[in-house]
Amino acid sequence: MIKRQQIKDLLKSTDFNTEVTVMGWVKTFRNNQFIALNDGSCMGNIQVVVDFNNTAEDLLKRITTGAAVKVVGTLVESLGKGQTVEIKATTVEILGDSDPEKFPLQPKKHSLEFLREIAHLRFRTNTFNAVFKVRHALAFAIHQFYNERGFVYMHTPVITASDAEGAGEMFRVTTLDFDNPPRTEDGAVDFKEDFFGKSTNLTVSGQLEGELAAMAFGQIYTFGPTFRAENSNTTRHLAEFWMIEPEVAFADLENNMQLAEDMMKYVISYAKENCKEELEFLNGRLLEEEKQKPQNERSELSLLEKLDFCLANDFQRLTYTEAIDILKASKPNQKKQFKYLIDSWGADLQSEHERYLVEKHFKRPVILTDYPKDIKSFYMRLNDDGKTVAAMDILFPGIGEMIGGSQREERMEVLKQRMDEMGVPQDELWWYLDTRRFGSAPHAGFGLGFERLVLFVTGMTNIRDVIAFPRFPNSAEF
Ligand code: 4AD
Ligand code: MG
Repeated sequence: MIKRQQIKDLLKSTDFNTEVTVMGWVKTFRNNQFIALNDGSCMGNIQVVVDFNNTAEDLLKRITTGAAVKVVGTLVESLGKGQTVEIKATTVEILGDSDPEKFPLQPKKHSLEFLREIAHLRFRTNTFNAVFKVRHALAFAIHQFYNERGFVYMHTPVITASDAEGAGEMFRVTTLDFDNPPRTEDGAVDFKEDFFGKSTNLTVSGQLEGELAAMAFGQIYTFGPTFRAENSNTTRHLAEFWMIEPEVAFADLENNMQLAEDMMKYVISYAKENCKEELEFLNGRLLEEEKQKPQNERSELSLLEKLDFCLANDFQRLTYTEAIDILKASKPNQKKQFKYLIDSWGADLQSEHERYLVEKHFKRPVILTDYPKDIKSFYMRLNDDGKTVAAMDILFPGIGEMIGGSQREERMEVLKQRMDEMGVPQDELWWYLDTRRFGSAPHAGFGLGFERLVLFVTGMTNIRDVIAFPRFPNSAEF
C-alpha cells in the first residue's frame, strides 16, 4: 500500500525534523535545487530542496515541469522567503516523466482560451484548482442545505419522452439505424421500432418528475445533469449543465422566493467559510483581469465584496409589470441603446434588460415575479388577472438569470386549458395530470443553474471555465 502525506497538511505542520513522504507534480525546478511540488490538495506548493551534489545528473534532468515524483525527506523550517516549511529531500523518485519540450503548461500565465483547449491538463493550474474546489464546496453545501431542512434527494431520469419546458430544445436518444431507419406507412421514421418503443430525448429538466415526488414526500430536490440543444454560443449557456430543482408541496410563490434566497445565502456563505484560500486567490485574479479593462467598465466591487454584499442584503423583489415600467423609462431605452427596445407590456426580457435592472438600477440580486403567461411555461400557476403567472426569475449581477421557478398550476381544468393553449399534449403527460387528479395541492419549485452559481462565486467570466469538460455547439472534446 502506498503511504504519503498531503501537502496541505504539511504546509501547516510544525513537526520539524520528522521524515515525510510526498507525491505530486513538479510545478517548477529552479537552480537544480528547488522543486515547487503540488499534489492538488491545496493551491500552494511545498518546496523540496534537492541535494544536487549527491544526486545523479540524469535524475536531476528528469525533474521537469509536469513530472510526477515521490519525495522522501525531512520536514524543516524554511529559511527562504514565501514559505514556512520545506522538505530536505533524502530521495527523489520519478513516478512519471514529463517531456518539458512537449508539456503544454509552462510555468507562466496562460490565457483561459488556451487552457480551454487543454482542459484535460488545466486542473493543474492554480486557477482551476481554485475553481473546482469552490465548485465542490458549493455542491456539498447544496446537499447540506436541503438535508438540514429534511428534503429528499431525488434522482430523476436522464432519458425521458417528454419536453418538460415545452421549448423543444432536446437532444434525441435513439438506437435506430441512421442510414436506414424503419418507416411507417406514410414514410415518417417509426419510433415504435426504437429502443424504448417511442421517441426519447435527454432531459431538459427534472421538474415534472420532481413534482410527482413532492406530492408524496412534501419536499424534494434534484441535482443532476440537464441538456439543452439551444444554439446559444454565449458565456452563460452550456448544452450540458447541472441543475438543482427543489419542489415543495403546500407552498406558494412567497415560500418559493424565501427558499431560493435562503439557499443562495447559505451556499455562498459556506463557500466563503470553507474556501478562504481559493476565494482570496480568485479575488486577486479578478482584480488583475479588471485592470485590463477601461476604468468605466470595471466592477465597483471586488469578488469578495460582491459575495459579502449579496449575503448582507435582501434580494430586491418586484413584478414584471413594475420592471417594464422601469425599463421603459430607463436611459438606455430612451436613448435607443438597448438592442431590443422595450415599448410595451408583454415583451420578453433579454439579458441586456435583466442586467440593467440588476447592475445599474438596483445594484443587487433581483427577484422578478408575475410574468405574462405567454412567455412562460405551461405549468406555471395562472394569476387571478388571467394575464400573468406566478413565476419568478432571480437575476444576479454579472450573470443575469440564475434561477427560474414558479408556483405550479394545481387546478386540473386550468392546467389542461394552459396545455392546450401552449400545444402541450395531454395524453403524453397523463402521469403528470394524475397528481392533479388525486390529491392535488398548491406547490412550488425552482431550478438553479449550478454553473451560473459557480460563475458568480468564483468571479470567472465564462461558463466554460467552471465545468470540467464543457459541451457547447461544435465542441464535445474530452
Ligand atoms: O429557467 P429554466 O429553463 O427553468 C427550468 O428548467 C424549470 N424546470 C426549473 C424549475 O422550475 N424546476 O432553467 C433553470 C435555470 C436557469 O435559471 C439557468 O440558471 C439555468 O437553469 N440554465 C442554464 N445554465 C446553463 N446553460 C444553459 N443552457 C441553461 N439553461 C438554463
Ligand atoms: Mg428561465
